[in-house]
Amino acid sequence: MIIGTALSNSATKALLLGSGELGKELTIALQRYGVEVIAVDRYANAPAHQVAHRSHVIDMTDGDAVKKLIDLEQPDFIIPEIEAIATAALAEIEAEGVCTVVPNARAIQLTMNREGIRTLVAEQLKIPTSRYAFAQSFDELKAAVDRGIDYPCFIKPTMSSSGKGQSMVKTPDQLQAAWDYAKASGRVDTGKVIVEAIVHFDFEITLLTVRAKNAVGDIETYFCEPIGHVQEHGDYRESWQPQAMTAAALALSQDIAAKVTTEIGGLGLFGVELFIQGDEVWFSEVSPRPHDTGMVTMITQAQTEFDLHARAILGLPVNTALQKIGASAVILGGINAVGVVYEGLAEALSVPDSEVRLFGKPEAFINRRMGVALASSTTVDEARAKAVQAANCIVVKASE
Ligand SMILES: Nc1ncnc2c1ncn2[C@@H]1O[C@H](COP(=O)(O)OP(=O)(O)OP(=O)(O)O)[C@@H](O)[C@H]1O
Ligand SMILES: [Mg+2]
Repeated sequence: MIIGTALSNSATKALLLGSGELGKELTIALQRYGVEVIAVDRYANAPAHQVAHRSHVIDMTDGDAVKKLIDLEQPDFIIPEIEAIATAALAEIEAEGVCTVVPNARAIQLTMNREGIRTLVAEQLKIPTSRYAFAQSFDELKAAVDRGIDYPCFIKPTMSSSGKGQSMVKTPDQLQAAWDYAKASGRVDTGKVIVEAIVHFDFEITLLTVRAKNAVGDIETYFCEPIGHVQEHGDYRESWQPQAMTAAALALSQDIAAKVTTEIGGLGLFGVELFIQGDEVWFSEVSPRPHDTGMVTMITQAQTEFDLHARAILGLPVNTALQKIGASAVILGGINAVGVVYEGLAEALSVPDSEVRLFGKPEAFINRRMGVALASSTTVDEARAKAVQAANCIVVKASE
């Protein structure tokens, strides 16, 4: 791998589609290796825009707009950071063979639609998942639940993330509202929902899995220590690393993650979401990119999930070793306001072994993630308590 000089004719260029907090950290990681980074989002001054060499604001679901921008920027790598993008355009660009879509266009297509990845994993790879069905109308949904999905169950738009449009239904009378909600808030309306039976797990993990080249240039699969997390309304609130689990469950988790990521292919880091009960493991979903719960690696690993993604993409060696036990706790907006101010940073950073990242999002919403607190300690419980304590010190306020 040869790296050029950023902002010159020889530059190695990466175009980031999606410029949130994960993209911001990835931009910094890539720039440390000399890569020129162009950050794209649907709104101005997104987190990664603030640190990239250049930025653009386009509708990333518009295939023509995406192709025009790629034509203008001529990147070596196209790195999707979000799911809602014009995947057909990426497939066309990949087929032209002039730049690399990370990890590859099929991965982006498969994972942007729950139907694609679920069908592949459950039916082709025969990996355990929750019982599921797809429905295109309320009657189909009702029939699927009655035929065996049963209650409680989860209704999700086939295209959505961060819990949007998702609800848990406990009784038949709640089903219509769940259908209406999924139809109304799916990010791109495929007209379809997935209904999943509940998995009664002991805990859930993200297994960060890296496909990277080893010393002799062969692609190998590497695993980070499992990350435990808690979710509220389909969005993560706290994560920690390592999550304690049985040797059998860990081996099975790694086996599932290796099978899924090998099938997907390409180079990069993946967030494999798994449900664990005792020695049993169910696949939930996979992100072909850094994962929000993986922000904890900014305090636990020498090579964060962003470093690992950057290195893997560039064909560089990786080290997934854990250095410290740690935790993350998200800082939510708590208000709807533009240009907010943050109080309590000094108090937060007075918590021993803590760190805070403020993402710099131009607008706060009540449930929008505006920052994250990180902490390390000698036990997971202590690290979690410290991260939550630090997060609670930060108060988001409207500016005067
Ligand atoms: N079948 C299920 N059984 C039990 N819990 C579930 C099930 N499906 C979803 N959940 C819970 O809801 C959370 C969010 O679900 P999922 O990951 O499918 O949504 P998402 O919108 O893709 O969220 P994100 O983008 O944040 O990963 C899961 O992490 C889990 O806690
Ligand atoms: Mg998820």
